[in-house]
Amino acid sequence: MDEQTIALVTGANKGIGYEIAAGLGARGWKVGVGARDDEQRADAVAKLQAAGVDAFGVPLDVTDDASVAAAAALVEEQAGGLDVLVNNAGITGGAPQTPATVDPATVLRVVDTNVVGVIRVTNALLPLLRRSASPRIVNVSSSVGSLTRQTTPGAETGPISGAYSPSKTFLNAVTVQYAKELADTPVLVNAGCPGFCATDLNGFRGHRTPAQGAAIALHLATLPDGGPSGGFFEDDGAVPW
Ligand SMILES: NC(=O)c1ccc[n+]([C@@H]2O[C@H](COP(=O)([O-])OP(=O)(O)OC[C@H]3O[C@@H](n4cnc5c(N)ncnc54)[C@H](OP(=O)(O)O)[C@@H]3O)[C@@H](O)[C@H]2O)c1
Repeated sequence: MDEQTIALVTGANKGIGYEIAAGLGARGWKVGVGARDDEQRADAVAKLQAAGVDAFGVPLDVTDDASVAAAAALVEEQAGGLDVLVNNAGITGGAPQTPATVDPATVLRVVDTNVVGVIRVTNALLPLLRRSASPRIVNVSSSVGSLTRQTTPGAETGPISGAYSPSKTFLNAVTVQYAKELADTPVLVNAGCPGFCATDLNGFRGHRTPAQGAAIALHLATLPDGGPSGGFFEDDGAVPW
C-alpha cells in the first residue's frame, strides 16, 4: 500500500481553506487543519473527521513566529513529515483602502499575513517538505495581484487597493523566487487564484462557491513530478503576471 500523503493547509477553519482541506482529505490524505482560533479549528476538524477525513488540528497564527515554529513541530510529531503545504490564510485589510488614503499600518498588517506569513510558514516547514519524494507548495494568491490585468482596460481587477492587491503581487513575486531557489529539488511551488468566491473575506459577495475556489489549489497540490513550478494559475490556465 502507498504511504499516506500528508498536507497542511493554513486558514483551514473556513472558506476556501476548509474546502481545500476537505478536497485533499477526500483523496485519502492526512490533513493538518491550520487555524488560529481553538474553537473554530476544533469544529472544522470534527466536521472533516465526520466526513471521513484523516484530519488533525494545528494551532497556527501565520503572523506569529512562535506559533509557526510550534505548528511545524506539531506536524512532525503528529504526522511524521509533510508532502504538501497550502498557504491559504489571508486577509484583505478592509475597505476602502485606496493608495491615497490607506493607513500604512493596514498595509503592514496585510503584507505580514499574506506575504511574510507565507514565508514564515514555508521556511518552518521546508525541512519536512525536503524529506518528501514529491513536495508541493501552493500559495493561494489572487488575480487582482496580476499587474497585467490591473493595467488592462476593462479587465476584472477588484476595487482599487493599496494593500490587498499589491500583497498578492508581492506573493506572486515571492513564489517565483522560491521556485528559482528550489529549481534543483523535487519541490514544485506555484501560486493559484481561486476566483471570486463567496466567503467571509468579501462579505460573501463572490459568485463562486468556496469548493469551486478550492479546485485550483487541489490541482496544484497534486501536480505530477516534473510539473510546472514558479507559475500562477487559475482554472482556465496561466494568469498573466
Ligand atoms: N474569496 C475570494 O473571492 C478570494 C479570491 C482570491 C483569493 N482569495 C484568497 O483565498 C484565501 C482564503 O480566503 P477566503 O476567501 O477563504 O477567506 P476567509 O473565509 O476569510 O478565510 C481566510 C482564512 O485565513 C485565516 N487567517 C487570516 N489571518 C490569519 C492568521 N494571521 N493566521 C492564521 N490564519 C489566518 C482565517 O482565519 P480566522 O477565521 O481566524 O480569521 C481564515 O481561516 C486568501 O488567501 C484570499 O486572499 C480569496
